[in-house]
Amino acid sequence: MARFSSPQDPLFQRLNSSVAFDYRLAPYDLELSRAHARMLASREIITTEDLEAIDSGLAAIRQEIDSDSFEIRPDDEDIHMAIERRLIELIGPAGGKLHTARSRNDQVATDVALFVRAHSLSAKQLLCELMDVLLERAEEHLDWRLPGYTHLQRAQPVYLSHHLLAWFWKFSRDTQRFDFCMRASDAMPLGSGALAGVNFLIDRVAVARDLGFGSVSPNSIDAVSNRDFVLDYLSAAATCATHLSQLGAEIVLWSSQEFGFCEPTDAFASGSSIMPQKKNPDAAELLRAKAPRVVAHLSALHGVLHGLPLTYNKDLQEDKEGLFDAVDTIELELQVAREMLRGLRFNRERMAEASRDDFLGATDIADLLVRRGVPFRESHGIVASLVRTAVDQGKHLAELTDAEVTAVAPQLDGGLSEVLAEGAWLESKVSEGGTSLERVREQLGRARAALREAGA
Ligand code: ARG
Repeated sequence: MARFSSPQDPLFQRLNSSVAFDYRLAPYDLELSRAHARMLASREIITTEDLEAIDSGLAAIRQEIDSDSFEIRPDDEDIHMAIERRLIELIGPAGGKLHTARSRNDQVATDVALFVRAHSLSAKQLLCELMDVLLERAEEHLDWRLPGYTHLQRAQPVYLSHHLLAWFWKFSRDTQRFDFCMRASDAMPLGSGALAGVNFLIDRVAVARDLGFGSVSPNSIDAVSNRDFVLDYLSAAATCATHLSQLGAEIVLWSSQEFGFCEPTDAFASGSSIMPQKKNPDAAELLRAKAPRVVAHLSALHGVLHGLPLTYNKDLQEDKEGLFDAVDTIELELQVAREMLRGLRFNRERMAEASRDDFLGATDIADLLVRRGVPFRESHGIVASLVRTAVDQGKHLAELTDAEVTAVAPQLDGGLSEVLAEGAWLESKVSEGGTSLERVREQLGRARAALREAGA
């Protein structure tokens, strides 16, 4: 490079070089270059002979990349320069024409947009597979009872199907977030040049169509500085990883001996090197632990981007490693969650036992009083006294004598046993989205429709 009279310091080279990680963009970069070269030829900016040479050179490089024989040289600063250097080695001066009417600035933004779009689609597909398993498991456990919790205290009983569908809907919203990422990365930056556009009448729309973009970016200054779609992906991945973490945490809790609600299969558990009796839910624990790492990538990129002046700045090179790690983390997690849930064994008896606690019917007793004309706030207080009476005497609610009940709540007058009959508190939740079997069946229908739509 004639602009410089002395070589780069090796320390600077190490700091500056991105090829060790942006190597991963090679397939996208090659696709982009093929589309760009085709357009240059169609606009007669290069000849058809140049195009043929470039095409065959790019195909040869693709083979080297696929067979892991592509060689990186110490002064290949990034994958874009490595590919161009190799192209010139392979086909001679025609290779040097490929970079006409483009810059690494619009090139890298386009590669990353292609990458984000491809992996938003994979995340969506993996989410659909996970949702499918949740739906199946919900159908399988339609009327199994367990306590629902608030503050991790037993609150009101629910059906396991209803509970599993709660996870389904969280992941369903995640698919919408990844959908948005696909739209956010749908305007092609290529053709913006370094920042101001290029000096040739190129056909951006043709290149965009070739690469599968829906449109071309409307402003070159914005386009080369835009990494919003990476933030969007990281944000969708962070929320999704948080859901997976909550799911993992619940499985850890439920598979403890204290709960005993479920047991992971051996394929997703490990033993202890010292305590032979142990079966540890490691897969669920790691799902629980991965979320902060994805969230950290999001927050790191916000840190990189904040305060950056327009347009391209080398800081933007820091967008990649976090993105790649987030993609690898979330895609692996989604597969693990899917397979772990597929095999998870639930313990019907333990769940039923825990939901037999008749204090879980307290809200239903309060509602019975409401139906008998007592304002809810008051009935809440009456039932609280009833519960205290029972707790003080070490009894269940159903074990209180008529006299004890009447002393606190004369309005109840015999209605208590009806309300406390087994299953009554579940079937009483008749509101839309509630736990009664009819509503859960309705919800299963909605979930199936949502899955069809997400998968389409
Ligand atoms: N490796 C760079 C990156 O990832 C590519 C763009 C470099 N552009 C430049 N003008 N130095 O951001």
